[in-house]
Amino acid sequence: MHKIRKVGILGVGHVGAHCAYSLAIQGIVDELVLVDLRADRVKSECQDLRDAVMYMPHNVTVNVGTYADLGDCDVLVNSLGDISLVATGDRNHEMRYTVAQLKATMPKVMASGFTGVIITITNPCDTIANLVYKLSGLPKGRVFGTGTGLDTSRLVSALAQQTGIDHQAISAYMIGEHGDCQIAAWSCVSFGGVPLSALEGKDERFSFDKEELQKTAINAGWVTYHGKQCTEYGICSTLARMVRAVLHDEKRIMPASMLLDGEYGEHDVFVGVPCVIGKNGAEEVIELPLTAEEKVKFHECCENVRKHIKDSESIEAAK
Ligand code: 2OP
Repeated sequence: MHKIRKVGILGVGHVGAHCAYSLAIQGIVDELVLVDLRADRVKSECQDLRDAVMYMPHNVTVNVGTYADLGDCDVLVNSLGDISLVATGDRNHEMRYTVAQLKATMPKVMASGFTGVIITITNPCDTIANLVYKLSGLPKGRVFGTGTGLDTSRLVSALAQQTGIDHQAISAYMIGEHGDCQIAAWSCVSFGGVPLSALEGKDERFSFDKEELQKTAINAGWVTYHGKQCTEYGICSTLARMVRAVLHDEKRIMPASMLLDGEYGEHDVFVGVPCVIGKNGAEEVIELPLTAEEKVKFHECCENVRKHIKDSESIEAAK
């Protein structure tokens, strides 16, 4: 019998529901388990998804589940949060709530016997990836965050609009915090294999203000948030691409929030860096050949995340 690809979604709000839909409509999963304490909400999302199955690429089983039902999932998506708390423009303002919830919830999730890969979205993403990793007891790499995977998509989108070049031909990475302290690794940007540095000054499409373009990419999430009080399509597409890379053992290189263990000269911190994503999660960190100036900025990002991780330690589990 072939293997059923089973994914659990923990927290089925705006983001969790969109992740479930993306995974199903793209034909990435066979079975979805939706877990949320809001019984009415999760029942409605489950029904709505079931109503779409007939028109999906293949059959998908969708059920509301308990923590115990997560035990045999291949991948667990953590999207448990309260997006209204980032209305301040600071993702760290969601931390008190999400850390308390996850400290209470993760032991119940792990009691299910789950041994798969956890991809965590919840903000502040890097701090929560660190927390979920610690609380899960899973091996390194089996827990990672969407991190700057989403910010990279925003950067590539801004570069595509600036240059008129298709997204797929652009290689670029946002690295660091999924927050204000992220940087575009400009020295590693290329178009169809041609470095940006070889194109700028020769062609006006490539002679843009890098600082301004980086700001546009970082601010994109807030442009989305402003009018709809949440962000959905960008994050669910990022997540779906990561789940696909895990389930198909693709060894795809994409940025994710991953524990650094000596790479980039950093230890004990989760931040966005390009990783090789395969069946064991984030299997390898790719070390970009950053310039000295980029390295300084990257270390500042790591220090910033480290401070938030420290703050998260004193937050108690929700009752
Ligand atoms: C996003 O960047 C708000 O973290 C969320 O879309």
